[in-house]
Formats: sequence, C-alpha cells, structure tokens
Amino acid sequence: MIYLNGQFMPIEEARVPVLDRGFIFGDGVYEVIPVYSRRPFRLREHLKRLQHSLDGIRLANPHSEDEWVRLIGELVERNEEEDQSLYLHVTRGVAKRDHAFPPGVAPTVFMMSNPLVTSTPELVESGVAVVSAVDNRWLRCDIKAIALLPNVLLRQLAVDAGAAETLLLRDGFLTEGAASNIFVVRDTVLLAPPKDNLMLPGITYDVILELAAAASLKTEVRRISEHEVRTAQELWLTSSTKEVLAITHLDDQPVADGRPGPLFRQMYPLYQDYKN
Ligand code: PDD
Repeated sequence: MIYLNGQFMPIEEARVPVLDRGFIFGDGVYEVIPVYSRRPFRLREHLKRLQHSLDGIRLANPHSEDEWVRLIGELVERNEEEDQSLYLHVTRGVAKRDHAFPPGVAPTVFMMSNPLVTSTPELVESGVAVVSAVDNRWLRCDIKAIALLPNVLLRQLAVDAGAAETLLLRDGFLTEGAASNIFVVRDTVLLAPPKDNLMLPGITYDVILELAAAASLKTEVRRISEHEVRTAQELWLTSSTKEVLAITHLDDQPVADGRPGPLFRQMYPLYQDYKN
C-alpha cells in the first residue's frame, strides 16, 4: 500500500500527471525513514529535517507534524512487514512547464513503504569497499532534494568498480558518501565532518555521535582532509538503510589492516541495542 495525495492505494493504481514538477524539474524533497518493529525511527527528527528541506526550496509544508505522524503511522499499519523502509516525498505539484513557481498549485505528497533490508552479518564482519570521487554537486547538499542526478552518477562509479559506495571529496576535504555520511577514526578519536551546506545532516550521523558521547568515546566534529581520510585507522559509513558499516577498502587500498576496527566493533552493537 502507498499513500498519494490523501489516499491509500496499491502502488499499481498510483498515478502522477507527467506535468508534475517532480518529474519535469526534480522540484521536490524527500525523506527515508527506517521502521523497526512498526516504530518509525527518530520520526520527529526526520520531520524536522523535512521541514528544513521544504524551507530550503520555499515550499509550504502540506501537513502539520501531528498529521505526518498520523499518516505515516497509518501507512506503516497498512503494510505487512515489521521492519520497513518508508520513503516520503513532496513536490511542488502539477503545472504547465515554467521554471518559476506556479501560483496556487497543491503539492504532490507521495509515500511508500518497502521491506527494510539491513546488512547481513557477513557484510558487517567483512566491511565494504568504497571508491573516491570529486564532489561535484551543488552548494545546498543540506537539502534532501529529489533531484539526485549527481548522486546517481557518483554512486554508479562505485557500482562500476564493484564497490558499495562513493566517498566524496570537495577541495581536498571529506564531505560525505553519495547516499551516506562518512566517519573517520584517527588516534582513537572519532572524527565527523561538520553539518554545513556541503552535506546532508544525517539522522544516523546524529545517533552515532550521541552513542559515541554516551560511551565516552572521544569525538571531534571538524573538517577532515583527504590525507586524513587516506591514512585513517577506520572509516565508517552511515545511513538510515545501511545503519553503520565499516569501510575496509578505499580505492582498492586496505583501510589499516583491511578489517573492521575496534571502535567500529564497539559502536555496531551499541547501534543495534539503541534501535530496538
Ligand atoms: N540517503 N547523505 C546523503 C547524500 C544521503 O542520501 C543520505 C541518506 C545520508 C544519510 O542520512 P540518514 O542517516 O538520515 O539516512 C547522507 C537515503 C537513505 C536515500 O537516499 O536512500
């Protein structure tokens, strides 16, 4: 079951006009919310980020926070799986093609739920390989925009190389992954890039920093140079769907000894406990 503009229906019945500005311009924003045992994870935080994204594209929020909570709860109940990946998206609606905002047009609101596929124990144990690339996206990467062509092209570089993700570097500094945030461990300190306009403020990113503080790990939020990335003791990637994974190879080079490091081994169970 999906949700489209006030109605729940099977996905096969869902239709959006071709003049939707999401289709024509990529003019919209989205969220991906993991659902564990039918409980949306960090829902208020996701809705806050949605508001930030809507403000960023100057689109009025079609629902109050309480309405979103109710609609999302209903969609979760109408789907079978206990653990779901909930996708929601709002576009500027349907209008004759013109770059300027159309006056008086209702936004399109779409939500769907898919089974949440988390990482296998083998993947958690082995870690993943990533490739690096120059971050050639725009300067509002803090907006979770549905216009994802740069991210699509950057992620495909990883797929083409048989890797899991593309790590992005802008002006010699780490920003994030094509669809994830990246953490670095150096000298037993957990480093994270600052939440600025060059990266998406990840909900998982916040959880990791909170768990690290609770476990009295040393953390630093600051710019991280390419050199620091390439000589790190550990690299991690985080996202709502990947949770936290160790990066064990970067551009075919092993990260330290090429196996998940001690801080990852400490953090992974903390995250698993926290989410349940
Ligand atoms: N992507 N950075 C980018 C560019 C992302 O697309 C994502 C998530 C993240 C991690 O954010 P969070 O922890 O809130 O999931 C960082 C989602 C999962 C996606 O596009 O499917």
